[in-house]
Amino acid sequence: MQLRTLGANGPQVSAQGLGCMGMSISYGEPNDAESIATIHRALDLGVNLIVTSDAYGAGVNEQLVGRALQGRRDRAMVATKFGNLGLAGGNPAGLSGGHPDYVPQACEKSLKCLGVDVIDIYGLHRVDPAVPIEDTVGAMKKLVEQGKVRYLALSEAGPQTIRRAHKVHPIAAVETEYSLWSRDVEADVLPTCRELGIAFMAYAPLGRGFLTATMKSLDALLPKDRRREHPRFNADNIKRNAELLAPLEKIAAEKKCTPAQVALAWVHAQGADIFPIPGTKRRAFLEQNIAAFDLKLDAEAVNALSNAFAAGVTAGTRYPEKQMKALGI
Ligand SMILES: NC(=O)c1ccc[n+]([C@@H]2O[C@H](COP(=O)([O-])OP(=O)(O)OC[C@H]3O[C@@H](n4cnc5c(N)ncnc54)[C@H](OP(=O)(O)O)[C@@H]3O)[C@@H](O)[C@H]2O)c1
Repeated sequence: MQLRTLGANGPQVSAQGLGCMGMSISYGEPNDAESIATIHRALDLGVNLIVTSDAYGAGVNEQLVGRALQGRRDRAMVATKFGNLGLAGGNPAGLSGGHPDYVPQACEKSLKCLGVDVIDIYGLHRVDPAVPIEDTVGAMKKLVEQGKVRYLALSEAGPQTIRRAHKVHPIAAVETEYSLWSRDVEADVLPTCRELGIAFMAYAPLGRGFLTATMKSLDALLPKDRRREHPRFNADNIKRNAELLAPLEKIAAEKKCTPAQVALAWVHAQGADIFPIPGTKRRAFLEQNIAAFDLKLDAEAVNALSNAFAAGVTAGTRYPEKQMKALGI
């Protein structure tokens, strides 16, 4: 896998990363042994960008990543995040997620869970509306000065917040949802990142699995799968959205590859400053997703897909209503 500089002055990371969230929460049954084998295979195939958060099972996913990295730490660029307290299970000290006093506490916990001395890329998972971004990033900057983290990132931040944060300390990457069916960032977040020399880490590039064309009805999801709470996956919307998949499946058939690979190739075609981080807990899917990096789509195919998934065609919002309020702040 090709290595690229993350943002103007960031570290060398693989052009595609590995998202580890689904190894511990949200999607189906965890399988730690296969998940660890998947992280090892990713490193062996040159994928060094390993992405987690303290919110994924309140440290459980970071611990899993930490176990996988034992003896392999120097081969990985670990990206973790803090401040998504709703998902992380709250904060006992009563501080909000972006409070400057909370930032070092969260960092210490992540260092411990991961079993590392330094976090390569440390991100604010959700912007805290109660705290000026300058204060949160100011506290993150101190962690860089103390050698506890190397580079900074933001997740789901709005363009003005990105600009203000970048003035306090260079932001290496913004991590936000981006895929054929989630293209809101094209309006302002992506142009802002490009103007400032900030890389874009595209999370859920497979549409949380939908763009693999294997989830065309609710029956494809286990009863406790968190996607059932997401409006795009509700019984009516998933059926409507499945009607969008025909062009993706057609191009996959022509190219003799899978819809998942075409969906990833479309994200790569949007620019070398975009680093998709597909998630999987299985080596077989990982290998397929890595192979997608070499699948080059011609302009005609890219345009056909962009037109088929034009902004606004997807039925349902990206998150349940309450969580939507935390996006783009
Ligand atoms: N910053 C944020 O707020 C935020 C939010 C969400 C996610 N993320 C990050 O982004 C990463 C990726 O997003 P995501 O995992 O939500 O969604 P995703 O990458 O779009 O899709 C993951 C789903 O697709 C399935 N899958 C993966 N490769 C496949 C293939 N080749 N064929 C068939 N199915 C395949 C996975 O199955 P299996 O699980 O069975 O392998 C899983 O159900 C996460 O792991 C997380 O690190 C960040």
